Amino acid sequence: MALVLKRVSWKYFLPGCVKAKKPHPSSSVPRVQDDSNQMSMRRLSLSDVSNTGSQISLNDLSSSLVGSNLHIFTHKELEVMTNSFSKSEFLGEGGFGQVYKGFIDDNLRPGLKAQPVAVKVLDLNGSQGHREWLAEVIFLGQLKHPHLVNLIGYCCEDDHRLLVYEYMPLGNLEDKLFKNYAATLPWLTRIKIALGAAQCLAFLHEEEKPVIYRDLKASNILLDTDYSSKLSDFGLATDGPQGDVSHITTCVMGTEGYAAPEYIKTGHLTAMCDVYSFGVVLLELLTGRKSIDKNRPRREQDLVEWARPLLKEFRRLEQIIDPRLEGQYSTEGVKKAALLAYQCLSHHPRSRPTMSTVVKTLQPLLELNDIRMGSFVCTVSNDGNLTYVHNNARNYEQKDEKREEIGCHRLRKGRRQRRRIRPSRSRDVYSDTVLYKALGTSLYSPRN
Ligand SMILES: Nc1ncnc2c1ncn2[C@@H]1O[C@H](COP(=O)(O)OP(=O)(O)OP(=O)(O)O)[C@@H](O)[C@H]1O
Ligand SMILES: [Mg+2]
Repeated sequence: MALVLKRVSWKYFLPGCVKAKKPHPSSSVPRVQDDSNQMSMRRLSLSDVSNTGSQISLNDLSSSLVGSNLHIFTHKELEVMTNSFSKSEFLGEGGFGQVYKGFIDDNLRPGLKAQPVAVKVLDLNGSQGHREWLAEVIFLGQLKHPHLVNLIGYCCEDDHRLLVYEYMPLGNLEDKLFKNYAATLPWLTRIKIALGAAQCLAFLHEEEKPVIYRDLKASNILLDTDYSSKLSDFGLATDGPQGDVSHITTCVMGTEGYAAPEYIKTGHLTAMCDVYSFGVVLLELLTGRKSIDKNRPRREQDLVEWARPLLKEFRRLEQIIDPRLEGQYSTEGVKKAALLAYQCLSHHPRSRPTMSTVVKTLQPLLELNDIRMGSFVCTVSNDGNLTYVHNNARNYEQKDEKREEIGCHRLRKGRRQRRRIRPSRSRDVYSDTVLYKALGTSLYSPRN
């Protein structure tokens, strides 16, 4: 859950929510002159609706969102989707409120593509409110990227504020990295996840009107069935500085352990604050440790403080690399990723790399094949069977039911057998090489 350092005071930008209606064409779309002297659509930003005097109604809002294809749902429709917000559909809860799994298809509304969805319900007594809901609608309604979770629609009816997203079957990175039951994420999967998040941040920072995400952390990185990562939670996102302006000044918001030190000190927000948070996530992926962990000895509780000095000392890197990887990583890749994390975590924002440099640094790491193999590895074939392969080419096969997801769910089932055949290993480890061979080489492609 986001530990908000300090809340901005927000006001209701919309003059009052009305019963949900279908969007209609509106003339209120902000337009700008482009180079070719033609009128073109300009992305609506949070400030366009927050400025006093610009009173955009809900209907205007939905039609003003450039490129948006958002559905405006009624609360009744959301009840149908989620089986009346049934406990059995509960996915989790964060600062915004509870999240439920649901399903949409054209029985609900003609033209809707049949698919599972995640429905987030604003908790009216919680720490977040209409401002966060609006930020999600405005940013996610207009920004589209393969590594950005897709907002399908929203509901703003009376006091209800809900958001409907594409469903991400493997949940969030925090659970996959830190929950005891989760199978260990292999090295290349970690790099693939980091790369997806980096590509999304680079996209946001390089928009014509740059966006600062402000809340990058493991729990906000969601995972698709192939471990492709997508950023979610745009409640704290904000328009970045433009032109000659170096930063914007805001109340300090974000999550303890991820927020950049200069932002905490001064309230000055730049894209480099996102780069710092990315460095923290990269460090979590490298070490398998949480950014703040009160259960560790005092000097190890703050991950950045403990690990950053060691990131440049290649000979001491083994001391901090996640032991659950059991040495199955590219030595070259670890060195480069560690150096990158070191740079992202610099106390001087100007010394940090831009997100596009981060992307360029991470991409080649997926190609490094100097990965040591452990004695047993687990493969997942296309038809959903698990195979345990020993390096001596002795195979153990276990038929398993087909499941739509790979990861802890499957591995938990296979645990008993694995303990028997691999007694010295405490946790389940996928081998990148064999796993990727089983799933196809597309996992290697940074485009995925
Ligand atoms: N699109 C989605 N698909 C699947 N699960 C989701 C989706 N969005 C959120 N979840 C799950 O819902 C739970 C709550 O998510 P939410 O983003 O509200 O809170 P959080 O990230 O845990 O905390 P915070 O308030 O700090 O962001 C998490 O377990 C998350 O994995
Ligand atoms: Mg979240």
